[in-house]
Amino acid sequence: MKSTFSISSKLLLFLAVLHHLPPEYSSSPPPPIFPKEAQPTKSGYLTVNQTTGSSMFYAFYEAQESNSTSVSNTPLVIWLQGGPGCSSMIGNLYELGPWRVSSSLRQNVEHLELKKNPGPWNRLFGVVFLDNPIGTGFSIAASESEIPRNQHEVAKHLWNAMEEFIALDSSFKTRSIYFTGESYAGKYVPAIGYYALKRNAQLPKEMQLNVQGVAIGNGLTHPIAQVATHAINAYYIGLINEKQKNLLKNLQEKAVGFTKAGNWSDATIARSKVLNELQKMTGLATLYDYRRLIPYEDDLVGDLLNIDEVKKLFGANETMKYATCSGLVGEILSDDVMKSAKYMVEYLVKNSKVLLYQGQNDLRDGVVSTEAWMKMMKWEGTEKFLEAERKVWKVKGFVAGYVQKWGSLSHVIVSNAGHLVPTDEALNSQAMIEDWILDKGLFAQDQGIMRHPSANRFKGF
Ligand SMILES: *[C@@H]1O[C@H](CO)[C@@H](O)[C@H](O)[C@H]1NC(C)=O
Ligand SMILES: *[C@@H]1O[C@H](CO)[C@@H](O)[C@H](O)[C@H]1NC(C)=O
Ligand SMILES: *[C@@H]1O[C@H](CO)[C@@H](O)[C@H](O)[C@H]1NC(C)=O
Ligand SMILES: *[C@@H]1O[C@H](CO)[C@@H](O)[C@H](O)[C@H]1NC(C)=O
Repeated sequence: MKSTFSISSKLLLFLAVLHHLPPEYSSSPPPPIFPKEAQPTKSGYLTVNQTTGSSMFYAFYEAQESNSTSVSNTPLVIWLQGGPGCSSMIGNLYELGPWRVSSSLRQNVEHLELKKNPGPWNRLFGVVFLDNPIGTGFSIAASESEIPRNQHEVAKHLWNAMEEFIALDSSFKTRSIYFTGESYAGKYVPAIGYYALKRNAQLPKEMQLNVQGVAIGNGLTHPIAQVATHAINAYYIGLINEKQKNLLKNLQEKAVGFTKAGNWSDATIARSKVLNELQKMTGLATLYDYRRLIPYEDDLVGDLLNIDEVKKLFGANETMKYATCSGLVGEILSDDVMKSAKYMVEYLVKNSKVLLYQGQNDLRDGVVSTEAWMKMMKWEGTEKFLEAERKVWKVKGFVAGYVQKWGSLSHVIVSNAGHLVPTDEALNSQAMIEDWILDKGLFAQDQGIMRHPSANRFKGF
């Protein structure tokens, strides 16, 4: 997701109050902002280019419920943030990591606070957050010219970083790997998955990456189809009228036209016009979730990571000014925005397993937007997938969303969530990723396949 960074007044107030504590408080130091138990298992830099020294920043959290006998079988989940150019520390510290940053009011001053995430993704799996591509977050790009301009370059760097990561610990070698991410990672995740499977085929077993699947949340993957869905989506929710729908459709057609012509820069600009117009028409706090009264507060991650002691604790370069999203990386990848990654998902669904999930209330990369290209997938299972029953998914007796699955393709709609699914529905997002990786519940191997006895029962229409 895109957001601009600013050292918020909250943080300045927080720092100011440390120096002007009233006497009755100065004797007891404030609680540490970063409790020891919140520290990552490992973090620091993974070199992507030995010649230039460019490197990716990572933070790794081992599975909470693993032990020395089971750890070599414990899957590794790699998380990539979108943008393009946004830091995966948003995912770590605001979405699915074990601790999340929030702010609270004490003596009329806002303080940053870390709280335990009730549904972290590292309960059963090790989770690695990678600041990708280089130039993003704490990652270091030795020169601007080395920052990737397309998904092939992104994938090459991710492969190099993963090789370095696997070499950090002998237990990592055998563990299955799942690439996951959100939003613009709808490009990165297929790109590294595709690249890894192709490269694996040319390597001896011991040099391969053990990639078993990919998961994309509220992704941008096949923009030409996705950009054409905003008008009807907003219209049928009741957010715009027919006249506005037609105006928006005209803007969408322009974006589609530029994309078809391969006029990438104009296509990206045309898509921005669609989203800006939708924003203007609806006046919403954010298109990432049409119910929200205030935008997601992911800027708090920037406030936290610009504190010197926190940088030190993460092993990040202490002279760097951390930004949640890099404008430079976004600009360098701007001609990539409207290019499709669909063919890479098609390769992955044939050779591994794929999960596409969306928070239901996202107006940018939501359910309708994703279904628009899923039905176009060139794969022998597409028709069977489209015929498969969309099942009601419940967690602890309550509707958590809907699951449609056939073979290696799963589609999940997460209720009560917007663009940042784990932020909005921590426990349900955890249940989803665990069941999907472990082939349990509605993701069990035989679910959704036609020979299942109950599958045809209600097909009377
Ligand atoms: C490393 O960077 C140099 C200089 O930009 C480039 O020539 C080389 O191909 C890069 N190597 C890798 C492995 O990306
Ligand atoms: C380690 O984990 C495995 C698999 O979950 C379990 O069977 C075993 O009992 C655990 N061992 C210990 C010492 O907790
Ligand atoms: C893209 O479209 C614009 C507007 O029609 C045009 O001026 C420009 O020359 C086109 N660029 C390319 C590279 O085709
Ligand atoms: C840390 O970042 C600064 C500013 O980007 C850079 O000049 C310096 O070389 C980096 N230090 C290391 C050890 O990478």
